Amino acid sequence: MKKVTKAVFPVAGMGTRFLPATKSIPKEILNLVDRPLIQYAIDEARDAGITDFIFVTSRGKSALEDYFDGSPHLEQTLNAKGKWDLLDLLHSTSMDSGEIAYVRQREARGLGHAVLCAKRLIGNEPFAVLLPDDVIASSTPCLKQMIDAHEETGGNIVAAMEIPWDKTSTYGILDVTKTRGSIVNIKGMVEKPAVDNAPSNLAVIGRYILTPQILMHLETTEEGAGSEIQLTDAIAAEIKASGNVYGFRFEGERFDCGSKAGFLQATVAFGLSRPELYDEFSRFLSSIVATKVAAE
Ligand code: UTP
Repeated sequence: MKKVTKAVFPVAGMGTRFLPATKSIPKEILNLVDRPLIQYAIDEARDAGITDFIFVTSRGKSALEDYFDGSPHLEQTLNAKGKWDLLDLLHSTSMDSGEIAYVRQREARGLGHAVLCAKRLIGNEPFAVLLPDDVIASSTPCLKQMIDAHEETGGNIVAAMEIPWDKTSTYGILDVTKTRGSIVNIKGMVEKPAVDNAPSNLAVIGRYILTPQILMHLETTEEGAGSEIQLTDAIAAEIKASGNVYGFRFEGERFDCGSKAGFLQATVAFGLSRPELYDEFSRFLSSIVATKVAAE
């Protein structure tokens, strides 16, 4: 079986939930503690063995492309000042020439369409898709857990987690037949069902390992929920065609940084996980909570 070495990062969405910030700043470079969202996704992919990084971008995302360029002037200054730790940090986050490829999605026609835009760069091999909005804190990177599982299952794997039943209408939901440890056998997948039509409360989140067959389905997938070409619909078509699609219950905590509340929660959790910030930040949080409780 061909190893998964290519990853697609669809970043062409409009990020309307973060307006007005996203009028001029791509959502993916909004800052979580001290690094942009996209850096977390890149680090996770690299730690999982990914060597080819494919970005699907759109108009207005040039700041995102610049973020991965070298910064010779800054490096010279840090060098002259002997700031070696900051230089190491810069080097650890920069990308080598040729590691990243960009393709454009001319119109925001949905996640499925964004993935299809990368077809020529993906070729005929299994590939990963990471949505940088979903930031996952875990001891083993989520994508690495999935690639390990993929060596056992082959086929297509979607990351899945249980969500409250009243939230089914905001996720793709799995129709489960059997659970074997972390691997879930499924017979269907529905995009954003109302709670009464939801086959389970196991939701798909933004990590996928997909086969080229999904690209084939995407070419004929019509607009679905929200008048967008949905990746879920192409995966559902592959479930029907081959049944070769699995859910994967990953170990870790996922933060929905595509929403304001989720981004704030991630900021608190990732801030507290930094030893150099812990004392001051936890004192601040405790005092703010105590003041709030006293006022109620
Ligand atoms: P979202 O559904 O979160 O949409 O996309 P969005 O535009 O980023 O944000 P809101 O809802 O307007 O606030 C999920 C992922 O799919 C990408 C987004 O960039 C994000 O990573 N996407 C979505 C595309 O690349 N192209 C699209 O046409 C739609």
